[in-house]
Amino acid sequence: MSTETHEARAPGGKLVLGPPLAGDEPADRSPLPTLIRSGFRRIRRAISRRTPKGLYARSLIIIIAPMVLLQSVVAFVFMERHWQTVTQRLSAAVVQDIAAVIDMIETYPADPTFSDVTRIARDRLGLNVLVLPSEPLPAPAPKPFFNILDGILSEEITQRINRPFWIDTVGESRIVEIRIQLPDHMLRIFAPRNSAYASNSHIFLVWMVGTSLVLILIAILFLRNQIRPIQKLAQAAEGFGRGQPMPTDFRVRGASEVRRASLAFIQMRDRIERQIEQRTQMLNGVSHDLRTVLTRFRLQLVLLEDGEDRRELEHDVDEMGRMLEGYLAFAKGEGGEEVGELDLERLFLRFESEAALKNCTIETEIAGDPLVTVRPDAFTRCLNNLVANAMRHGQAVRLLARHDDRWLSVSVEDDGPGIEANQREEVFKPFFRLDEARNIDAGGTGLGLAIARDIARSHGGDILLSESALGGLKAMVRVPA
Ligand SMILES: Nc1ncnc2c1ncn2[C@@H]1O[C@H](COP(=O)(O)OP(=O)(O)OP(=O)(O)O)[C@@H](O)[C@H]1O
Ligand SMILES: [Mg+2]
Repeated sequence: MSTETHEARAPGGKLVLGPPLAGDEPADRSPLPTLIRSGFRRIRRAISRRTPKGLYARSLIIIIAPMVLLQSVVAFVFMERHWQTVTQRLSAAVVQDIAAVIDMIETYPADPTFSDVTRIARDRLGLNVLVLPSEPLPAPAPKPFFNILDGILSEEITQRINRPFWIDTVGESRIVEIRIQLPDHMLRIFAPRNSAYASNSHIFLVWMVGTSLVLILIAILFLRNQIRPIQKLAQAAEGFGRGQPMPTDFRVRGASEVRRASLAFIQMRDRIERQIEQRTQMLNGVSHDLRTVLTRFRLQLVLLEDGEDRRELEHDVDEMGRMLEGYLAFAKGEGGEEVGELDLERLFLRFESEAALKNCTIETEIAGDPLVTVRPDAFTRCLNNLVANAMRHGQAVRLLARHDDRWLSVSVEDDGPGIEANQREEVFKPFFRLDEARNIDAGGTGLGLAIARDIARSHGGDILLSESALGGLKAMVRVPA
């Protein structure tokens, strides 16, 4: 396919400004930019996977990384400029002294032992000079990996003396040995290392690293104090989401932004609690009134003549009573209950005996600690609703609990008709029932799953519906342990 036909087919031959949308790039476009972009994306992802996620660690990196960078640059420039220059000057001075000694030896060759020259060199120049009979230079000494003295000294000798030489800057630590071949003699010079080399420059580096360690320590202490209120706020908010009481040590502390967030959180929490309380109060009032009316109905029904009509009316009144209780339970929520310990083993035993009554087979398994920390009544009601649904719709039920140090998940499976994938969100809506469409008169109100999800969410978790291996529905409750 040519490019022209491709362009001709483009609707209206529109001129595209800016980057094209993904997926509508022409086929013949060079893949290079895409490659670069995906490369960058991969690098970014790899970096973000390796960088720490916590605010504390991140702030420390924000402080430490520029400091390390700055120090590396300063250290590098210092080594490059100062240290090298000073060493060069010192080396040059030593080499000049040696050149003077050589000049003296060559200008006054009368004394065969050169005792005057060696004395002057020792007393005035600090050099230990031996004038030996001519002999070949030894093989070059091994060069250390990082030694600027070796390089600089060799360079200076080549420049200022220009005779065959041999140096050993490694051998004995405080002394540098230099051998120079003269036409008739071999000169062996021992010079103190620190007269040729800026040996105490590393003190600068030691100071630099030392002070930055102190700085980092101070930063750690300060940051800890700044970040602790944020961590406490996060903990309190998380706990509130799970219905736990406010931690006793929670205070409005820290920087002004954190204080504002903490205050806003406390106000929000109070407002929500007030609303829940109002709702409960109102419902209690309504339920009390309705219950009174229902009781009056029942009394009047007893006075009626026994018959088909009366039984039907009684049935209706009973159902109204049951529905009323259901709505109340839903509207009240389980907010008031305190967190406590629930024994899953005992709960599962109860489900087993219930299944036996209903002629269902049930299979249970608990992986991990059966004691879980939840709001016991609420969580029992949540599982109850799921198990009741499973037993109502299926014959075989499987209960599986998994409890590790982060999550508690309980799955309830059955071999019933299941729920179509597109209905799995709908059934969580209050009063939504599929049974009527399926023509099953199971007598539910359609609140079971809504209540169950409400409870799971108030624990900071959720319920997920999927298909079970048994053929029916699999409902999975997952809450933080
Ligand atoms: N295990 C299941 N298998 C098949 N359908 C189910 C299952 N559980 C629930 N459903 C369907 O989802 C609908 C909603 O369930 P929900 O528990 O909310 O209400 P309900 O069981 O009808 O009434 P309630 O639980 O209030 O007595 C039910 O009407 C039922 O059709
Ligand atoms: Mg139900």
